[in-house]
Amino acid sequence: MARITAGVASSHIPALGVASDFDKTAEPYWAPAFAGYEWTKHWEAEQKPDVVILVYNDHASAFDMKIIPTFAIGCAESYRPADEGWGPRKVPVVEGHPDLAWHIAQSLILDEFDMTIINEMDVDHGLTVPLSMMFGKPEAWPCKVIPLAVNVVTYPPPSGNRCWALGEAIARAVASYDEDLNVQVWGTGGMSHQLQGPRAGLINAAWDNDFLDGLVGDSDRLRYIPHIEYLRETGSEGIEMVMWLIMRGALGPATRVLHRHYHVPASNTAVGHIVLEPV
Ligand code: DHB
Ligand code: FE
Repeated sequence: MARITAGVASSHIPALGVASDFDKTAEPYWAPAFAGYEWTKHWEAEQKPDVVILVYNDHASAFDMKIIPTFAIGCAESYRPADEGWGPRKVPVVEGHPDLAWHIAQSLILDEFDMTIINEMDVDHGLTVPLSMMFGKPEAWPCKVIPLAVNVVTYPPPSGNRCWALGEAIARAVASYDEDLNVQVWGTGGMSHQLQGPRAGLINAAWDNDFLDGLVGDSDRLRYIPHIEYLRETGSEGIEMVMWLIMRGALGPATRVLHRHYHVPASNTAVGHIVLEPV
């Protein structure tokens, strides 16, 4: 039986990917942001997950105003890094797990989550930057990845409660897969940031840290945060954090924290990172 063994959350700031790609991680500006991922790199090397279900958002790379799936699951054999304007990142191609992905798609849809199924897609910084933060710069990514894309770019994004419930449904789907697989669920994006308008640069460390607190233990208070609170307290792009609730929902009733990191400044966004285990 496949098992969800851990949940990981991380910001996906594109400039972190640039710092990694161009070997700038030891520079004084970037070093403290990357230092908080050292623990996780060692831990991941020991954990050796077979598959990561990587919850992320596309930033008008694969989708645009023509097609806006609320929840989409990648069932492809592989995914190339997207060209986001400067050529594709020189990171490994992302290998998928079509058998498990189709099983999850079937289980979710019959469980009344109306997923969009994707058989061909390039993946942007939302997916590849967290891989770089957790695995560094390997020749090939050390696990298979099932991309799970969430619309948090164009209003209306899904509610936090719906995201949490999707995570619970993902846990049921994984538990009903016969093969013995070590599966992690990652939630990416956030934390507080606003990239445009008069409030550009907004950071709310107190709110972000309260959100990190809320992921640990048996409370489910985070699922009821309304969109307007994310917008007001964490800026126009802070809504990316609803994706962390899919990860949290997939871990079940209670969690234990293994590692936690928060750092400002890094580009325009508060770097948040947490590693959780189901209790
Ligand atoms: C930044 C952060 C993001 O989450 C993103 O998608 C793009 C840019 C930033 O901090 O610059
Ligand atoms: Fe983003």
